[in-house]
Amino acid sequence: MDRTGASHNHFLRLRHSHQTSAGAPLDYNPGGTRMTLNRRQFLHAGTTLAAGNLARRLHSFALAAVPAPTLAAELASDPRRPQFHLLPAANWMNDPNGPIWWKGHYHMFHQYNPNAAVWGDMHWAHAVSPDMLHWRHLPIALAPQPRGADAAGCFTGTAIRDGDRVVVLYTGVIDTAAPGAPPAFKESQCIATASDPDLISWTQEPAPVIAAPPPGLNVTGFRDPVPWRQGDTWYLAVGSGIRGHGGAVLLYRSPDLRHWEYLHMLAQGSPTGSSAGDPVASGDMWECPDFFPIGDKHVLIYSTQGKTFWQTGTLDTDAMLFRSERDGILDYGSFYAPKTQLDARGRHILWGWIPETRPQSEYSAAGWAGIMSLPRVLTLDPAGNLRIALLPEFDQLGATKRELRLTGDDSQNRRQLPGIAIRGACGEIVVSIDQASESIEVALVSVEDPAKPWLTCRYDPAQPDIALIDNQRVPTGPAGSRAPVELRFVIDGSVIECFANGCGTLTKRFYYPGPTAPTLGIEINGSLKNLSALSVAQIKPISANRLTT
Ligand code: FRU
Repeated sequence: MDRTGASHNHFLRLRHSHQTSAGAPLDYNPGGTRMTLNRRQFLHAGTTLAAGNLARRLHSFALAAVPAPTLAAELASDPRRPQFHLLPAANWMNDPNGPIWWKGHYHMFHQYNPNAAVWGDMHWAHAVSPDMLHWRHLPIALAPQPRGADAAGCFTGTAIRDGDRVVVLYTGVIDTAAPGAPPAFKESQCIATASDPDLISWTQEPAPVIAAPPPGLNVTGFRDPVPWRQGDTWYLAVGSGIRGHGGAVLLYRSPDLRHWEYLHMLAQGSPTGSSAGDPVASGDMWECPDFFPIGDKHVLIYSTQGKTFWQTGTLDTDAMLFRSERDGILDYGSFYAPKTQLDARGRHILWGWIPETRPQSEYSAAGWAGIMSLPRVLTLDPAGNLRIALLPEFDQLGATKRELRLTGDDSQNRRQLPGIAIRGACGEIVVSIDQASESIEVALVSVEDPAKPWLTCRYDPAQPDIALIDNQRVPTGPAGSRAPVELRFVIDGSVIECFANGCGTLTKRFYYPGPTAPTLGIEINGSLKNLSALSVAQIKPISANRLTT
């Protein structure tokens, strides 16, 4: 298939046809927090998944990997488009898929609609990086195959090394609806193999490797496979849920990645009792599981109800049973369907999809939707809690760093505040608060309109293990250490990734009208004598034109 063949006119026609004719069915919300059509309907009820007409309509169109020149110009000057996060040059993206370090390069794939800035017609887009920070787009890796088990979409999956090749396991969907009826998607687990070292040419096998969920289980969904190898055996976890019993992760075993035997549930939730009809909205279907060892513990991650959860515990490798010991939330904001990989140094890197939080009509008109999070390093603290920190090498992107000269004179400290600001919503603020301080609130404000903060963060030593970011209790690590609490706010176009002392995270989207990003400054309620450091840095964009190419 010619994957770059769509004419620019064709692309623009498509884009406009979505804005005018698609109407309500195209709205999408991650994890079902607000019930709308399309993606959430697809997530509905077992392996029969209903979506709007979008997937079927788009499927017959040729692929458009690059935006038309006029749209490219619009996108390049849209200040809300990030400048140092990975995102496609145009159109819709969701989950990270199959991130892998291979032959000296970091490869990232992700869910992608090549034809519109709304969910639908799922492909795997592909980008490559030397360092997980700078990216170059490559041709689409996986596209629905007309007669394959993925004819109506290549959903989320995982890349793994199998000998000297890279293989991906992913969910394929076909539309089983009668002509004219709303699509009814059937999920199965599929396999594809790369035939070149740059992971550009892929062979998708038309038949699935797991055609259906285990007989006898009344599942609420069956998708997002994650394989791993233990000795000579491959294992595979698949996101699911059992009707009336809650979310679940199904465990399979195989000698060769192709013949899979169902074992049992690796993990299971409990019925949420929610009346939401959509099992992802209710929490009764767990999407995008991930499962991996850190030290002598195992980490399970899954997404449901618009949130991403972690559990840490012990894997009994004889019985292949996971016993959860601790749990928590991976990110308290707009962050969903994450996936981990090992980097060149053996660190566990977490990537997540940062969805839009503005109305579908706005992102569809903007011509782009969704952002890949910055790489986050996962570790465990001695008690077995998950810790999450920004990749330390991110500091290389910092330019023109300015540090407040903190003295014992509060008014002198305060006089310096107006002098530090971030231009073009492209920078980072790092605040370190003494644990022995009084309560203090930091607000990120537009210099032009300081009355309306974009984000607030309160730290109160009476509750030393949390920061209140936009009123959400984000963990800052166990109390007791005397080290200052470091709050990092990484701001890029329309996203703020907050890192609370290398422990909890909160990702926030923020939108402003017009062609210019606000200049962001800092307001502080409380004495600046509570701070041990405050610095602001502009960040160097990773591409000249916001198209991350
Ligand atoms: C999570 C998800 C996955 C699915 C994919 C489809 O956001 O719903 O469960 O494979 O998106 O795009």
